Amino acid sequence: MKTGPPPLHPGARRTPGDRGGPPLPGTATPPDETQPPDETPAPGGSAAGRAAAAEPARRPAAAPADGEDRVTDAALRPKDLDGFIGQERVREQLDLVLRAARRRGAAADHVLLAGAPGLGKTTLAMIIAAEMEAPLRVTSGPAIQHPGDLAAVLASLTGGEVLFLDEIHRMSRPAEEMLYLAMEDFRVDIVGGTGLDATALSLDLPPFTLVGATVRSGLLLPPLRDRFGFTAHMEFYDPAELERVVHRSARLLEVEIDPPGAAEIAGRSRGTPRIANRLLRRVRDYAQVTADGVVTRRIAAAALRVYEVDGRGLDRLDRAVLHALLKLFDGGPVGLSTLAVAVGEERETVAEVAEPFLVREGLLARTPRGRIATPAAWAHFGLAPPPEPPRTEPPEPHRNGAPGPDARPDEPPPGGSRPGEDRSRP
Ligand SMILES: Nc1ncnc2c1ncn2[C@@H]1O[C@H](COP(=O)(O)OP(=O)(O)O)[C@@H](O)[C@H]1O
Ligand SMILES: [Mg+2]
Repeated sequence: MKTGPPPLHPGARRTPGDRGGPPLPGTATPPDETQPPDETPAPGGSAAGRAAAAEPARRPAAAPADGEDRVTDAALRPKDLDGFIGQERVREQLDLVLRAARRRGAAADHVLLAGAPGLGKTTLAMIIAAEMEAPLRVTSGPAIQHPGDLAAVLASLTGGEVLFLDEIHRMSRPAEEMLYLAMEDFRVDIVGGTGLDATALSLDLPPFTLVGATVRSGLLLPPLRDRFGFTAHMEFYDPAELERVVHRSARLLEVEIDPPGAAEIAGRSRGTPRIANRLLRRVRDYAQVTADGVVTRRIAAAALRVYEVDGRGLDRLDRAVLHALLKLFDGGPVGLSTLAVAVGEERETVAEVAEPFLVREGLLARTPRGRIATPAAWAHFGLAPPPEPPRTEPPEPHRNGAPGPDARPDEPPPGGSRPGEDRSRP
């Protein structure tokens, strides 16, 4: 029944793999250079689409890519596994998965990439397609609200194609259920009409490789998580790795930088290559305007002072969160939603962009009763913690060992819940 090229879903873009075969008709845009997947409004103005569209234009330094980022992200992406810096374990594991598939002449197993924004998930997806010499198709969870959206993408896949589904945890539940069958049996069941007129059409799909990306694999339901043959847990990068990223990007951007200058930038990049690249560009601007363009430690430090990135890598959002926690809530505990409102940000931005870094730095703790500031947070702002912090103490257990009444979580930590579960669509 397949005649002519199937329609391309609006949220889907086709790109030829870097070393892939001939370009596909009507498509040649690499991802991240047009609309980023996370800003593609969902069709039909769904809740998720509206939320994405309503996202504030102002973005903190660690937030997902903005316009300038998207262009340089694409320019600075390593093209193959050998050029991918750090993540030794993931690289080794992925290399085995891909090499074995190539040897069998089959599509690689489905791969889930889990890690904070900016750690290289999109880059790895593109590398997977390149290493498999397969075309790459890009779409994202928010763009797939109807099963029909997904069916259109799946039905147009060619054999061996790599389908990159960014932010896979934000896909609607009915679409997710369609994906189970597609991943496991390479089949979709399309239901047309309603009630007694409903007809079901079963469509066989060619073998393809699904590459899903998510900020935390815990956000996926087990049935979806279990259908991935391999999950890459991406870690934050250590300073030495980030120095290599900075040197590599400086070379590509033709910026002269000395090793102490690169170390200064790497140390303030929160373990994240995207931030390292962004800080490098800002420092380059500063060096070009105020000096001879050469990035040294002194220039890097002065530039990052101007851009409000402190010596620890905390940016404006991080400091706003900590400041609210310390000054408005006496160090907590305070619920995530309240904290987000206090700093004027989305709940998810605070939980996924600011908090992972603050927790890792030992400045903030997530407890069942809410967020609390650690002594290190008070020290970072040169403040003394309140003499008696009664509210940060764990609740007294009842005599029978049961937790006290206020031990009940005021809200679950973000890992325990599934954002978007209260979607308005059935
Ligand atoms: N391991 C790495 N080596 C070199 N550059 C990297 C690495 N990981 C990420 N980058 C760079 O960081 C930027 C963001 O990476 P990206 O893949 O878009 O992250 P994510 O999709 O996880 O948010 C890109 O410019 C990419 O080139
Ligand atoms: Mg990405």
